[in-house]
Amino acid sequence: MKAAVLYERRTPLVIDDLDLASPGAGEVEVRLVASGVCHSDLHHIQRDTPTILPVVLGHEGAGIVTAVGPNVTRVAPGDHVIIAFGPKCGECYYCVRGMPYLCTPARPARPRLFKNGQVINQFLEVATYAERTVVSEKNVVKIRDDAPLAVCSLVACGVTTGIGAVINTARVEPGSNVVVIGTGGVGLNVVQGARLAGAARIIAVDVRDNKLEFARAMGATHLINAAREDVVERVRALTGGYGADYAFEVIGNPATINQAYESIRKGGTAVVVGVADENAELTIKPVWLMRQAKTLMGCAYGSARPQVDFPRIVDLYMEGRIKLDELITRRFGLDEINEAFRAMEAGEVARGVIDLA
Ligand code: APR
Ligand code: ZN
Ligand code: ZN
Repeated sequence: MKAAVLYERRTPLVIDDLDLASPGAGEVEVRLVASGVCHSDLHHIQRDTPTILPVVLGHEGAGIVTAVGPNVTRVAPGDHVIIAFGPKCGECYYCVRGMPYLCTPARPARPRLFKNGQVINQFLEVATYAERTVVSEKNVVKIRDDAPLAVCSLVACGVTTGIGAVINTARVEPGSNVVVIGTGGVGLNVVQGARLAGAARIIAVDVRDNKLEFARAMGATHLINAAREDVVERVRALTGGYGADYAFEVIGNPATINQAYESIRKGGTAVVVGVADENAELTIKPVWLMRQAKTLMGCAYGSARPQVDFPRIVDLYMEGRIKLDELITRRFGLDEINEAFRAMEAGEVARGVIDLA
């Protein structure tokens, strides 16, 4: 089975032939149809993160169940599924409280990928830059058969994270003024989440004009190019001098997190969606946090419950209420994966998708 393996940080992924375990108890095998290219994968190539190498990256995938192990009840061969990344044990402190995005399982998943007997890790227990994968049945969510799977792969991360940040995490009210800093694959979904929530002004901020045009197509009402304009000043001017009700940072950079925090009004909420470097630190004056009664929130995986949210998001797409096709700028073969990362880093695409079927 072919998969893209990261053997060494800051080197290209290697397309390699790996052995995949048969699904064990509670596990399923999925033939992947597509996997979106998310900036989080690139972080693990470029940065020193806790992820152990070698690893097959990819966490934004969808496909068709091809085999199930003993005691699998949620899906059967032939089912169309979107893969939910990260542990989802269903039993830990967080899972039982409805926060699977914080799952802290008692046991790690067993190894399922091998090269000549050597274990190859599965990124976030899913490893979707591969022709097939074996995952826990808790990591797959069955969806309707009539939804195009390649497009639905984006629901596995970017779409759910972005829309979820607005709807689940911040709970933006209709009529709110919303700022989105960083309108890449995830940020564009924060923009469309804000539109879905009935936001009044949706102010998109990026350093690239092409990204701002994508944001306009997803529902942004105002565009700010941070390379040329003062973001905080422009946001104030667009919000009657007060600042926005909500600001979302979707880059993972302390400077832009500060910008989000400065862009909100007194009593407003700034939400950190972007993944910062492991050692990055944020400086905020606590006296102003208190005096201005601001809220600074973290958002992991759009605070989503994938079994509930994925089918809902797919329905919204099928009903024409959210846009997914427009997010996909370019499609690549698995052997073009390094080019797909280059295109993302160069800012050429809204989202790139790897076709695997
Ligand atoms: N100010 C404004 N926009 C910026 C800045 C900046 N200083 N620096 C980068 N950007 C923009 C880029 O131009 C790009 O459009 O941020 C966007 C990032 O988008 P992508 O590269 O497509 O990344 P994405 O997959 O959306 O992920 C964004 O969220 O999930 C996390 O790990 C992910 O930290 C990453 C972030
Ligand atoms: Zn992602
Ligand atoms: Zn759990």
